[in-house]
Amino acid sequence: MRHLISAADLSKDDALLVLDTAEELARVADQSIKKLPTLRGRTVVNLFFEDSTRTRISFEAAAKRLSADVINFSAKGSSVSKGESLKDTALTLEAMGADCVVIRHGASGAPYRLANWVHGSVVNAGDGTHEHPTQALLDAFTMRRRLGNLEGRRVTIVGDVLHSRVARSNVLLLGTLGADVTLVAPPTLLPVAVDTWPCSVSYDLDAVLPKSDVVMMLRVQRERMNAAYFPSVREYSRRYGLDAERLARLSDDAIVMHPGPMNRGVEIAAEVADSPRSTIVEQVANGVSARMAVLYLLLGGSEPAIGKEVVAR
Ligand code: CP
Repeated sequence: MRHLISAADLSKDDALLVLDTAEELARVADQSIKKLPTLRGRTVVNLFFEDSTRTRISFEAAAKRLSADVINFSAKGSSVSKGESLKDTALTLEAMGADCVVIRHGASGAPYRLANWVHGSVVNAGDGTHEHPTQALLDAFTMRRRLGNLEGRRVTIVGDVLHSRVARSNVLLLGTLGADVTLVAPPTLLPVAVDTWPCSVSYDLDAVLPKSDVVMMLRVQRERMNAAYFPSVREYSRRYGLDAERLARLSDDAIVMHPGPMNRGVEIAAEVADSPRSTIVEQVANGVSARMAVLYLLLGGSEPAIGKEVVAR
């Protein structure tokens, strides 16, 4: 595989290879081996047209831990403000020797366009309301570390599904891995075509919680909506927020996830976000291992003995 643009690009074997490679890389890091020489001489460009904390920094950390050179590009302060197009920006970066472009863009589909213009690999770091496949990989990696095999696991994704690229990528990837996904959201915050997605839909969070192994809360993306979608924070929190009372309805081993950034007190109470069941900080740490695995497999080779090679160096 040359690019990673959609979670649907990954077969079950591909997805398991990424997760196994991430596990191996995390194990190496646990042995205090901070840097591997695998991508020495390769250049990774982080091309970010939208704001990011976790994704941009973890791709940078991942590339550097694999010894790649990293160029960070932010649209703010660049010639994009003078009207330069995505294509010309991409060709300029490629002329500087990019082997891989990691792109975040506000327009759904921008990474597909980019993949037609550059010779190197393209990784989607979030495009509009479409997809965020490496978030889904790090989420699956976190679930697998906590719960083991994901086959048959019941994952409930709650909140603003309509605007969430994280939700779409998770539904696709978790379906590929054999998990059983339920979306819970107000009808106004579900996509029109949700009945074509490989998952169930419920409007009753309290009914679904006791049957869940994983509860993934989504950020309410108020910057992308108007009052017709989202009448009031209070009403939303009452029906769809995860507070301590709802947390108590989860089974003993169930975990709580959130991709970040969080609206504490809206979709998730602060005491829930900071509780021992929360994997939110783990997700951030696991993001580096998952993104190392993606860069390694796209740029470093895809032989089955990847883990052995990494450990041997
Ligand atoms: N989860 C996520 O994509 O966070 P950032 O917007 O901070 O990258």
